[in-house]
Amino acid sequence: MNQILLTRLFKSIEGKHDEPLIRVAYSIIEDEKKKGHVTLAKKLNSILQENLSKTKGNSFLKLTRDKEFRIPIDRRFRLPLAKHTEHEHLRHEMVLSENAESKIIRIEKEYLSRERLAHHGLNPRRKILFYGPSGCGKSMAAERIAWDLGLPFYKVRFDSIISSYLGESASNLQTLFESIADYPCVLLLDEFDIIGKQRDVKSNDVGEIHRIVNILLGLLEEYNGEGILIATTNLEGSLDKALFRRFDDFIELPKPTITEITELLKISFSALKLNQNIKLGDYAEKMAGMSYAVVVKIANDAAKKAVINSSSEISANDLDMALAENEAINK
Ligand SMILES: Nc1ncnc2c1ncn2[C@@H]1O[C@H](COP(=O)(O)OP(=O)(O)OP(=O)(O)O)[C@@H](O)[C@H]1O
Ligand SMILES: [Mg+2]
Repeated sequence: MNQILLTRLFKSIEGKHDEPLIRVAYSIIEDEKKKGHVTLAKKLNSILQENLSKTKGNSFLKLTRDKEFRIPIDRRFRLPLAKHTEHEHLRHEMVLSENAESKIIRIEKEYLSRERLAHHGLNPRRKILFYGPSGCGKSMAAERIAWDLGLPFYKVRFDSIISSYLGESASNLQTLFESIADYPCVLLLDEFDIIGKQRDVKSNDVGEIHRIVNILLGLLEEYNGEGILIATTNLEGSLDKALFRRFDDFIELPKPTITEITELLKISFSALKLNQNIKLGDYAEKMAGMSYAVVVKIANDAAKKAVINSSSEISANDLDMALAENEAINK
């Protein structure tokens, strides 16, 4: 279908998040993305999101907006125990391996079908662990899930949770989990290994670490709330085995393949003009082994250079220089 027709069609789509028509709309967006029509996919997605948020009687979105939620605070220092990110600021445009993409879509579909699942005594996956190297989308994937599902997004502030006063870290964790028990949101426990370290770690505060880990295990186990808990770590090996068992799904987010790097470069440059002699596939090969974050940084560095020089397009030289500069640090 041509782009104008698709755009027009999307403007007329209305419905609730879990209706079949909306699911078809999401599949069209995914197909366009796979075909490399990234800008179109992005445009269709924002039209769809706008229509979904306007739809009257969209009980799910209404519920999350209407319900007053106050972030609990640490009693001693009055610091908030979680940080909210506005929906429009959530990072969501990801390039993923087929395996990771399909597992994330499964989480989203199960969440949208949670009422149907409940009729059969089944629960959606809602305690998720993302693991993998730094800069490969663990935190971003949590944001993407919140964005796709229209759920409010909160990130646990371990700096406020972990208190040097005995017992207060545990009570902070408890307070936070209680406050979100029946509030539909995505709660991100980012770099979770801060408290999820091996229980046999020998350190001075080992007693307190044991206590906090045990409280967290209990809280994870008991969580049967309305939202989705997402933990991330890049230290998979050092995580307590008992913690792994508490999750409904573990998803590895590895470094990108050459095809994924090419796709990421295409997306990163989609709003800009690239010199026609540049072959992104060749650059992707030179970037093999880099994280997504570094690839994005190289693309941004090249783009900034072109903009600052008031060039009408990004030249091979801009890209070569950005690559050389980052290659030295990141390989
Ligand atoms: N799969 C991806 N698709 C597109 N961009 C990505 C992807 N993964 C990472 N990025 C880019 O890298 C940046 C950093 O990603 P993110 O913060 O999710 O990494 P992380 O895995 O949480 O790393 P860390 O372990 O250091 O916290 C993102 O803002 C984005 O620009
Ligand atoms: Mg992260």
